[in-house]
Amino acid sequence: MRILMLCSEYEGLIKTGGLADACRGITKALVEAGHEVQVLIPKYATLYALPSTHWESIHFELGAQPYGCAIRHIKQDGVGIGLVEHHQFFQRARPYDDGEQGYADNPLRFAVFCKAAIEWCHQHQFQPDIIHGHDWQTSLAAVYLRQAKIKSDFFQQTRFVFTIHNGAYQEIVSADWYSQLGLQPDSRPLNLLQHGIEAADKINTVSEGYREELLSEPAANGLAGLYQQRAADFTGILNGCDYGLWHPAHDRHLIAQYDWPDLAGKKACKDWLRQQYNLPLTEVPLYVAVSRITSQKGFDYLIPALEQWLAQTSSQVLLMGTGESRYTNALFALAARYSDQCCFVMGFDEPLSHQIEAAGDFFLMPSLFEPCGLNQIYSLRYGTIPIVRATGGLKDTVQPYPAENSTGIHFERPDESDLIQALQQADQLFNQPKLYRAMQRRGMAKNFSWQQAGEQYQLLYQSAQRL
Ligand code: ADP
Ligand code: GLC
Repeated sequence: MRILMLCSEYEGLIKTGGLADACRGITKALVEAGHEVQVLIPKYATLYALPSTHWESIHFELGAQPYGCAIRHIKQDGVGIGLVEHHQFFQRARPYDDGEQGYADNPLRFAVFCKAAIEWCHQHQFQPDIIHGHDWQTSLAAVYLRQAKIKSDFFQQTRFVFTIHNGAYQEIVSADWYSQLGLQPDSRPLNLLQHGIEAADKINTVSEGYREELLSEPAANGLAGLYQQRAADFTGILNGCDYGLWHPAHDRHLIAQYDWPDLAGKKACKDWLRQQYNLPLTEVPLYVAVSRITSQKGFDYLIPALEQWLAQTSSQVLLMGTGESRYTNALFALAARYSDQCCFVMGFDEPLSHQIEAAGDFFLMPSLFEPCGLNQIYSLRYGTIPIVRATGGLKDTVQPYPAENSTGIHFERPDESDLIQALQQADQLFNQPKLYRAMQRRGMAKNFSWQQAGEQYQLLYQSAQRL
């Protein structure tokens, strides 16, 4: 099949979270299965230095305004990626916000990206079987495709598949936007995610568990009725793991590589990291997290839980992330108070995220909701036992202790007491090396390859083509 993949982030080029990993993972799996895939992403300021092989220009109208973009073509791992260049809209270092607030012109920025994608196909004779969009940033491409189908035959065979990586990000903006974005005027606020769900031929999200959750409120954030209406066209496809990038036996970011059954390298990674961050090299478990620091990830109760728990245990905690200052300030305060047990690294650091995955004994994911989650999947491969709240993709990927096939620890309620209980359970488990190692072994043996996901996307595309 010929597939146009529309993404607002892509691992190796621009990343704020798992969306980037997923877009690259799905693309690579489809290319390896023999499909022709062309990726388009906005050309953010950080991508200006990349040398392109060739470029094309496109011109179009949106809401009666003329726009022009260049598409600069590059290759990554043999995959063709077009960078959509528009200085005014995309030449910014951060994709969606200035560090504090979302850009006020986000609806127009991503509408231009979507319209440019559809126009590029038309003006440069790229006739896709499938256009595959990811999250609200690409919603309007589904709408513009429908508009284009009315005007010409070019897209008659093209179907739109829409993947929801996070149903909480909907981009709901004032009704003033409709006409500027070339949409039918309406008096209600404009919800971009909703437009994608309505206009796509097939939709999916990134785990079965989260799909179930989206069929009712409050998880659906107001869109449960719409998900129910589209239930027959709505599936769950679990994300995978790029073991080429995330494997402790050949991870170039680690000071020592390792694999089951010899985990000496893992111990070396743990001690190296603790030395870097002045945590004493005592025989205690190290709990780690790498995360966007937002309410989704459970920081409202994680921080008070750690506050209580660190007073009762000698275990150590190391967290890395960037995000909301109300949480990062509290994390700095916590680390200052328990300086020989707790460390907070504020930053977005790819090599360090690998080093932390390898160094931890347990990985914390107390998310309020989690469409899929990738870090628990990476943790399993690195022998770092995940402690997860039983929700969405976390529930689908981690088997709970004490079952025989357990690969991690679950807790149910998003509150301090349930989390502290899980931490106490983990401390005890750490002191039972036989049990702990057996769980590590089972987790490390799991395989969440993108190939499996790729096969399911292929079936989804085929079902879209039959419509
Ligand atoms: P989400 O997409 O909701 O943020 P996921 O678990 O699906 O959650 O994916 C998060 C991805 O982003 C992982 O690859 C993780 O390693 C990466 N990540 C998150 N925060 C950081 C950070 N501060 N530095 C480096 N990588 C990070
Ligand atoms: C979103 C979700 C996360 C998921 C990722 C990739 O950012 O929050 O759970 O793993 O997308 O699909």
